[in-house]
Amino acid sequence: MSANQIDKNQKQDVSNHSAVDQEKRKFLIATSAVGAVGAAAAAVPFVASMTPSERAKAAGAPVEVDVSKILPGDMLVSEYRGQPLWVIHRTDEQIAKLSNHDAQLTDPNLEVPQQPEYCKNKERAIKAKYAVMLGTCTHLGCSPAQNFAITADWDGGFICACHGSKFDLAGRVFKGSPAPTNLVIPKHQYLTETTLLVGEDKESA
Ligand code: FES
Repeated sequence: MSANQIDKNQKQDVSNHSAVDQEKRKFLIATSAVGAVGAAAAAVPFVASMTPSERAKAAGAPVEVDVSKILPGDMLVSEYRGQPLWVIHRTDEQIAKLSNHDAQLTDPNLEVPQQPEYCKNKERAIKAKYAVMLGTCTHLGCSPAQNFAITADWDGGFICACHGSKFDLAGRVFKGSPAPTNLVIPKHQYLTETTLLVGEDKESA
């Protein structure tokens, strides 16, 4: 390979990393309350220096979240296994509203196993105030947008701009949505009162 070719390839490589850096930086800024076990959220140059098998391992590593940093009514967006990971700090009002619209839901009783057994409850959660779920629409995989404002006919939740699927604040899908099932809740556990670990639970640890 000529010196010119090598130089060109290096520039291309730097440019690619730069684009990734920009995206990752945005992600890190947006998720300052998040840490990752196994360096999943470590700086990009470190990740880039890994071998493919190390990168694959890091991509599947559990993600640690300090939920004490999430204000009531707010949502933290992180990443788990290449998908958006949402942690929502629900208010008492938002929790109460979860009982308001069962008749409008496709699977209000969580018959489809889209959540671990320990989240098969009204709030779909270990702790009622913290909802943990993957922000990937179960229709074609877009990431629904949050719409938390409570109105006369909306109890807060998410709307997928792609084809209009609607989900409540427990990730349960509304009837009439093209999405066939509720959003996925990954396995998780609390290591302390405020430290959430996503990707491992007491059964798998
Ligand atoms: S991907 Fe969400 S409605 Fe189609």
